[in-house]
Amino acid sequence: MKDLLITNIGRLHQVRDHHHGFLSGKQMMEWPCIDHAWLRIRSGKIVGFGTMAELLPEPGPVLDAEGGWVFPGWCDSHTHIVFAASREQEFVDRINGLTYEEIAANGGGILNSAVKLASATEDELYENAYKRLQEIISYGTVAVEIKSGYGLSLESELKMLRVIKRLKESALIDIQSTFLGAHAIPLPYRHHREEYIRIIIEEMLPEVASQNLADYCDVFCDRGFFTPEETILILNAASKYGLKAKIHANELGITGGVQAGVACDALSVDHLEAMDQDAIDALKGTKTMPTLLPGTAFFLGMEFAPARQMIDEGLPVALASDYNPGSTPSGNMPFVVSLACIKMKMLPEEAMNAATINGAYAMELESQYGSIQIGKWGSVFITPALSSLAYIPYAFGSDLVQSVIIKGDLVIKKRHNI
Ligand code: NIG
Ligand code: FE
Repeated sequence: MKDLLITNIGRLHQVRDHHHGFLSGKQMMEWPCIDHAWLRIRSGKIVGFGTMAELLPEPGPVLDAEGGWVFPGWCDSHTHIVFAASREQEFVDRINGLTYEEIAANGGGILNSAVKLASATEDELYENAYKRLQEIISYGTVAVEIKSGYGLSLESELKMLRVIKRLKESALIDIQSTFLGAHAIPLPYRHHREEYIRIIIEEMLPEVASQNLADYCDVFCDRGFFTPEETILILNAASKYGLKAKIHANELGITGGVQAGVACDALSVDHLEAMDQDAIDALKGTKTMPTLLPGTAFFLGMEFAPARQMIDEGLPVALASDYNPGSTPSGNMPFVVSLACIKMKMLPEEAMNAATINGAYAMELESQYGSIQIGKWGSVFITPALSSLAYIPYAFGSDLVQSVIIKGDLVIKKRHNI
């Protein structure tokens, strides 16, 4: 947590003067900026900003942005970056014609990751996840949520959550932790699913809570995984321990996952590739953030979520990566923003708000992240001066993030533009 004055900022983006919980509908087009700006960070927090003409000099470290653009870092509210092994054989199987669901039904998919995780040591899991965190920081991510869910037994779920806790304590960026014991039904329980659900509720949740290992509880509420009734049972049990819901819903089918999430006051319902009007209507007027993960639809070759319709009907939308070894082996938020624009017809301002302030809301970090605002963390990335905001999603695949500053500390410096 350092002091830093950034001067000669060509454009300071997403500048807010009061607190926004989240942005919805037409508000998602608002993207306030200041040109020829400075930004002052003290002890890691933003304490001031303004135009260069009004800058009052003060002693302390200075970074000259040389006209570059400064943005609040990405808030990636949905990842599974603790895992033991990649799954590119399933990728090849899909190229050869199998579907994600067929692979899962044959014991592949999440169950494949659970087998690998069971034999990995905590140190291995920690070191590999730490490298993935370093990778996403280099894309400009400054806050992230990480789920368990490749354990699927008391012992292995706790192991994953302990790894996430260690990452929380050591990583440069802020992390929220989610318990996802209900990610899949393990094979031995396939014909006794109620027994696995009993284990989640009576054995896993009490331990997770008493060891203070999670901030949230997730359930994969979808076709072939958990039903809305099972989801509500698990989420109600979690809420007794103070764990709010953040769930997977409506990825593979329209099974009532969104409605189950809303009924449990979920902080977010995530995926939403398979939506109907009832599911969209269920979200209206609620505090539940619809969180879209277009990297998944891209990688699995599925329909994309109806973001355009959702925003046009007044809903908020957040964007996250879903970084995981099965459905989305990428945590590249600039690419997620490009996909949102290209495949879901989100406008650049909407996609940027979805990946910053609304993503922060989906981790309850909106008072700390998501915009340039006094009192929030000074965690930003710098790009060269661009021709317009739209250039960011337009130039898909280009690495425009040249520097990353976490809580006032310059942690990534890729080229010599600053
Ligand atoms: O968000 N959909 C459920 N869970 C993950 C994928 C998990 C996996 O395939 O390993 C997701 O896509
Ligand atoms: Fe996921």
